[in-house]
Amino acid sequence: MDDLFDISPPIDSTEAARQDSLLAPRFYTTDFDAMDKIDVSSVRSSWDQLMNEFREDVNKGHFERTGSFSDAVAALPEPLRVEFLDFLISSVTAEFSGCVLYNEIAKNVENPDVKELMRFMARDEARHASFINHSLKDFNLGVDLNRLKREKKYTFFSPKFIFYATYLSEKIGYARYISIYRQLERHPEYRFHPIFLWFERWCNDEFRHGEAFALIMRADPKLITGANRLWIRFFLLAVYATMYVRDHRRPVMHAAMGLDPRGYDYQVFDITSAISKQIFPFTLDTDHPEFRRLLEKLRLVMEDIELAKQRGGVMGALSRGIGSVKAGVLFLRLYIRPVIHHDLPHDVRLAPSW
Ligand SMILES: [Fe+2]
Ligand SMILES: [Fe+2]
Repeated sequence: MDDLFDISPPIDSTEAARQDSLLAPRFYTTDFDAMDKIDVSSVRSSWDQLMNEFREDVNKGHFERTGSFSDAVAALPEPLRVEFLDFLISSVTAEFSGCVLYNEIAKNVENPDVKELMRFMARDEARHASFINHSLKDFNLGVDLNRLKREKKYTFFSPKFIFYATYLSEKIGYARYISIYRQLERHPEYRFHPIFLWFERWCNDEFRHGEAFALIMRADPKLITGANRLWIRFFLLAVYATMYVRDHRRPVMHAAMGLDPRGYDYQVFDITSAISKQIFPFTLDTDHPEFRRLLEKLRLVMEDIELAKQRGGVMGALSRGIGSVKAGVLFLRLYIRPVIHHDLPHDVRLAPSW
């Protein structure tokens, strides 16, 4: 598999994937001793059932390319090509960042449950990353994933933050892929690249990864009670807001799929909220007009910050500073909005039924 990751791109897509920004996927490391102490005995039967699903490895042969990938890339008009390429680069980085994190945990823990889970998930994410990297080759590009792993900066996250952030990114990943898949199932004429045909079974992997984190959190109830509820609220909002800002930067790609970023994102929020009720005791009120108004304002401020960054110089730095304060205030206003509470289900496990 190594040769997949060893490509010298004519323009440096590895560099594009390495650049750190507020919105770019990050690489994480964590406290392995604390990971070792995870105890899933209170959810043992659900856990064993999930591990059996991983062991079955239903997607083992799924990530094999057939035919028409490179022809599809050659046929893309220029603006779509640029946005789709950006989508692939950020996706490969996200998949690979999961792969690296899960691998690091697997290598550094003794706890047999955690080790086994992390190995399964690293296996899946490596497949996802290399599948996307193949598609980047059709652009005569490829991200040198090994170099990325060596050179990218790592952010330390305590285990509970890993659980919240990774749970949500797996579930939102599922919601994003299944929404695109269903849209293109209804409208095959908008399927401008064959990779979307892989999304249905692909996102079932992400759903399963999310299930594992849901069980880990259920096994340790303090993770979802008390002050930790404030952290859950923070991560829900951060993940939703990041996605909203980022998707609006790819208007052409969404239009090509017959989607508008706003409608698509609110659908993804609905699905993610419905799923996250399995473990989080509340959801964000994303349908409230005030939530939507503030989120849109936050997006516009983030666009101003991006423009100021490109402008550079003293004025650019000043605008960026002002923008950051505005963004912070808007984020806070969104954060303190009332949430929708509900009771947790007796059984955590869910099926990917969207
Ligand atoms: Fe993945
Ligand atoms: Fe995943």
